[in-house]
Amino acid sequence: MKVLIVGGGGREHAITYAVSKSKRVEKIYAAPGNAGIAELAECADISVMDADRLVAFAKEKEIDFVIVAPDDPLAAGVADAFLDAGFKTFGPRKNAAIIEASKAFSKDLMQKYNIPSAASVTFDNADEALKYLETSDMPVVLKADGLALGKGVLICNDLDEAKDGIKTIMIDKKFGDSGNKVVVEEFMTGREVSVLCYSDGKTIKPMTSAQDHKRAGDNDTGLNTGGMGTFSPSPFYTDEIADFCQKNIYQPTIDAMRQEGREFKGVLFVGLMLTEKGPKVLEFNARFGDPEAQVVIPRMKNDIIDVMEACADGTLDKIDLEFEDNAAVCVMLASDGYPVSYKKGFVISGLDTFKDKEGYYAFHSGTKLTDEGVVTNGGRVLGVTALGSNLKEARENAYKATEWIDFENKYMRHDIGKAIDEA
Ligand code: AMP
Ligand code: GLY
Repeated sequence: MKVLIVGGGGREHAITYAVSKSKRVEKIYAAPGNAGIAELAECADISVMDADRLVAFAKEKEIDFVIVAPDDPLAAGVADAFLDAGFKTFGPRKNAAIIEASKAFSKDLMQKYNIPSAASVTFDNADEALKYLETSDMPVVLKADGLALGKGVLICNDLDEAKDGIKTIMIDKKFGDSGNKVVVEEFMTGREVSVLCYSDGKTIKPMTSAQDHKRAGDNDTGLNTGGMGTFSPSPFYTDEIADFCQKNIYQPTIDAMRQEGREFKGVLFVGLMLTEKGPKVLEFNARFGDPEAQVVIPRMKNDIIDVMEACADGTLDKIDLEFEDNAAVCVMLASDGYPVSYKKGFVISGLDTFKDKEGYYAFHSGTKLTDEGVVTNGGRVLGVTALGSNLKEARENAYKATEWIDFENKYMRHDIGKAIDEA
């Protein structure tokens, strides 16, 4: 079959890698793809948001299966455009992707269906939010309602910070229209774990767990980023916790969405906080995480097309989802200065070293192919991922592999997976 993958980051590179291993796939296209994806797929320079051109391209190339991977096009209805044109498509419709695109929606859903999450109140008026904060416990968490590249969440330690936060989100509109509403949420403490689940709208099957490192600097200092590294599995996510989450979070969420007329087909990413009072939902995303995908996908035993097709067809109950009994660590190589300002265009050396090494991957996040070779083209540049028989070995392998790569202004965290030592 012919597959079209919409997207062009490290997550899409990991998906393309898995699709390229499928025996059922004869040709892969990506839009827009990137320099790494281009080694496995034919890339077309079409924006992920340009539904008309994407659908026209799929018709021209007689595509059999479409994968829409990033959040923005899913929230904008790009999966709907493919589905309505008759293409078998992996990824939720817009009316289901809202579970990520509106935090107010997802909080309402969880409250209505008793899905464990932090207590919260939503406001569309700054004065009312400010009044409410006067009597709130501190710290408190403020969340801009809409998509904000993972940056619309402010943790405020005292009332002054919280007041400033409301101003930033609702009055100065730092996150644009995302800040028309704000969710004011109870601050929770505990270990964070991400569980990505496949769903066909009725059945939901969790993948192996992962943990992201969102802050830019070592020891979780500095600004929030899209993710500086991940490891999988999380040693803190026990079988008992997994059972609790399946019964009280994953299945109830998919059932609730169906009941609301918003059947969810695709990947439901559940961000969890393991609190003293049990697991609670931090956030839902309507897609694979980036860089969670880079550690979860290489550990999956199944043919990814079989699983994704079952999600589209509503036959996920027939799939036995299996992961290797190993571990993976991904260290993000970024451009120094990310996430604020950074330079692009530096030549990357060492990529060939990965070619003949099994269990080592350099997933491209922000790269570009030029006459000089592959150059840096974004804040996050490469997700260097390695497998190992356990987390410690995977971490050693991943850090060893980061030394194979060189480019000017190369920056990374040195403590990805450090929490493993405390397990
Ligand atoms: P989100 O985009 O909702 O996952 O939030 C980004 C990050 O903010 C999370 O990964 C947590 O580290 C933190 N966070 C979000 N909500 C809370 C909360 N209620 N309590 C404590 N930390 C939170
Ligand atoms: N790594 C977090 C996310 O993809 O949302």
